[in-house]
Amino acid sequence: MTQADIGLIGLAVMGQNLVLNIADHGYKVSVYNRSPERTDAFIDESVEDRPIEGFYSLQDLVASLSRPRKVMMMVKAGAVVDSLIDSLLPLLDKGDIIIDGGNSLYSDTSRRTKALKEKDILFIGTGISGGEEGARHGPSIMPGGNVEGWETVRPIFQAISAKVDGEACCDWVGEEGAGHYIKMVHNGIEYGDMQIISEAYQLMREGLGMSAQACHEQFSKWNKGVLDSYLIEITAEILRIKDSDGEPIIDKILDAAGQKGTGKWTGISALEMGIPLNLITESVYARCLSALKEERVQASTLYPREARILPENKEAILEAIHDALYASKIISYIQGYMLMREAAKSFEWDLNYGGIALMWRGGCIIRSAFLGEIRRAYDERPELSSLLQDPFFELAIKRAEPSWRKTVIFGIESSIPTPAMSSALAFFDGYRSARVSANMIQAQRDFFGAHTYERVDAPRGQRFHTDWIHSDGKDTLASKKV
Ligand code: 6PG
Repeated sequence: MTQADIGLIGLAVMGQNLVLNIADHGYKVSVYNRSPERTDAFIDESVEDRPIEGFYSLQDLVASLSRPRKVMMMVKAGAVVDSLIDSLLPLLDKGDIIIDGGNSLYSDTSRRTKALKEKDILFIGTGISGGEEGARHGPSIMPGGNVEGWETVRPIFQAISAKVDGEACCDWVGEEGAGHYIKMVHNGIEYGDMQIISEAYQLMREGLGMSAQACHEQFSKWNKGVLDSYLIEITAEILRIKDSDGEPIIDKILDAAGQKGTGKWTGISALEMGIPLNLITESVYARCLSALKEERVQASTLYPREARILPENKEAILEAIHDALYASKIISYIQGYMLMREAAKSFEWDLNYGGIALMWRGGCIIRSAFLGEIRRAYDERPELSSLLQDPFFELAIKRAEPSWRKTVIFGIESSIPTPAMSSALAFFDGYRSARVSANMIQAQRDFFGAHTYERVDAPRGQRFHTDWIHSDGKDTLASKKV
């Protein structure tokens, strides 16, 4: 009997769909699940005549694989991954490859890559995006880790991934936890995109008094222009669907968002790296605030929103919301790329930014036409420090700016929160200011803590201190070089 090309552990939804996808591309797959019942059910119900075989021990699974063995884990991130690696190690030989396709924390992946390298086992931590449908018919795959394993897994990964204009949405991302880092940023951007779309939706629904059906039509229209993306498409679809009583299902869904943690990790990493990733971080906070449902309901009776007359220039505001959505989206990606750049510097990863945009162009949750432009921008100028310097994005932001401001003001006046759209605007206003208010912060720090400051009329790096505390009522104090 021929040996299998790859083994897959973990037959939850993503695992099952990946197995079917791999098998449909002509590869033989061995599968294992901790509970044998699930393996049996999968084999009985889904496998049909595909080259897939179920195993009931890790030993048998590994023994069924051709060398070098490729064992892919599709299990819950965290301790389960470590204990599974420990169980696999005695069964594997030098040069075999372990792949983690879950949403693992990048620092865990870096640690595992290093530890397994010492044992001559090649470890690949890969982001996989696209949900159930993507896994089945073409996900976006973002592998990183030990590059020596890449050529062996490349044919399978690139065969099963999504394709855009014939190019696979899968390429090598970089060393150690780079693949999972990029997937984490992808998820952060996913949080941001979802938040700005939700803000636009609430402005339309409550600020402009539009019905769910009217919002459906608007999002469908927007999906044909610059906002063309998977998340806009599903938003339109969600707004079309009615509950069994004929009412829009969206109105029946509780407004308390869940989260599994990847958005939060992105925010934490941004804070650690000192990158102003405020749109994504606000999106995480917005989910946290939404989860305080009971408190919000109470507060809403204490501070009821003022009743407002719906505006008459609805069409103009709708257009403004569109532009605000587009500009905020650009800022979100700009911030995401700033973070990846800083991470690459800090971890000494060699990231291919155009390639990352291509990986996100198809198959994944944040796929959009707009990523084609990001790819072009980085392919033309790989050294680009910010997408805001690319002429396409410069023009897009300049065109959208007045409407973006109008939208944020409309939200404020209507008491409708737009934390992501308005924080993106605050970022933009700060980023394009040659002078911000931090001179006051530096003066305050020097006042109470003698933290020193730099001067506008002295070379960067030279530090000064003023003895503010002992001014004794004097109006003039010396700024002393320290
Ligand atoms: C993807 C998604 C996926 C993510 C879910 C849930 O790319 O397919 O990012 O990996 O886990 O969307 O995320 P939250 O529960 O945190 O919203």
